[in-house]
Amino acid sequence: MTFDLPAYLAERKRLVDEALDRALPAENVPPPTVHRAMRYSVMAGGKRLRPILVIAGAEAVGATADVVMPTACALEMIHTYSLVHDDLPAMDDDDYRRGRLTNHKVFGDAIAILAGDALLTLAFRAIADNGALVRDPAVVCRVVADLADAAGTLGMVGGQVVDIESEGCEVGADTLDYIHTHKTAALIRASLRAGAMLGGASASQLAAVTTAGDCLGLAFQIVDDILDVEGNLAELGKTAGSDERKKKVTYPAFHGIEASRRRARELVDQARAALDPLGSPADPIKALCRFVLERRS
Ligand code: IPE
Ligand code: IPE
Ligand code: MG
Ligand code: MG
Ligand code: MG
Repeated sequence: MTFDLPAYLAERKRLVDEALDRALPAENVPPPTVHRAMRYSVMAGGKRLRPILVIAGAEAVGATADVVMPTACALEMIHTYSLVHDDLPAMDDDDYRRGRLTNHKVFGDAIAILAGDALLTLAFRAIADNGALVRDPAVVCRVVADLADAAGTLGMVGGQVVDIESEGCEVGADTLDYIHTHKTAALIRASLRAGAMLGGASASQLAAVTTAGDCLGLAFQIVDDILDVEGNLAELGKTAGSDERKKKVTYPAFHGIEASRRRARELVDQARAALDPLGSPADPIKALCRFVLERRS
């Protein structure tokens, strides 16, 4: 029987959306402006890829979604904070995100910055809450360390710094890969790893999902670059052509569209192959790999 990915995604997305709604302060909690701004961007939707990867990482080693849900929410909070800041005038200066005006367009730069800060902080609170759900709470300390590395200057923030500093510059293929593996792959890999760690993965299981996460994460950003060239606002929920406007270092600009597509396909094949030793429990992650390649948004 083939794996029913649309049904899987719909069900996991519903669970994540409900948990996020519970985890975020209500809009009327003082000070209301920042809570409205946090909810505005988180509850706008999005694919929920990172929280679903946390869940799929846990399932791949025999655990269930409920055991990792606070951490799944944390990954979505960190990701959404990165989007709110990425869209700021001082960064990519974009007007649309997730089908609506960007956070700063509605709430102003200051509140957008603070809403991002608050989402990052709340994420680590959510992970702390995960301690009550696992047999060995020490694993939560390892997850915190892993996520802090993945989100900080050794990961996403580091990639964003080099992305910004490279605008309009002639850089080599190694710098392009540094940007993509850090700004995007680090958090995707950390999502899978967090789920697997909390789910009780063995060292070899964790190594397999780590390799898969590296490959899937880079493939994800290559496809994001391609969609910025080929997509449109209606499908993407964000303005296409943003990279060319900002003279970003991207895969299509550097390697061309066809070579970029080939590279993404190769990486997804590598990710799927790395998961073979985990057997059928890893089928959801394998299906998510295909989804990342074929997505239109
Ligand atoms: C966009 O991520 C930012 C990148 C890292 C490329 P997504 O394409 O996962 O955005 P949402 O969460 O679906 O809105
Ligand atoms: C974003 O890369 C990576 C982040 C850490 C947010 P992009 O700047 O290409 O993401 P989009 O295209 O604006 O979603
Ligand atoms: Mg950017
Ligand atoms: Mg951007
Ligand atoms: Mg992009």
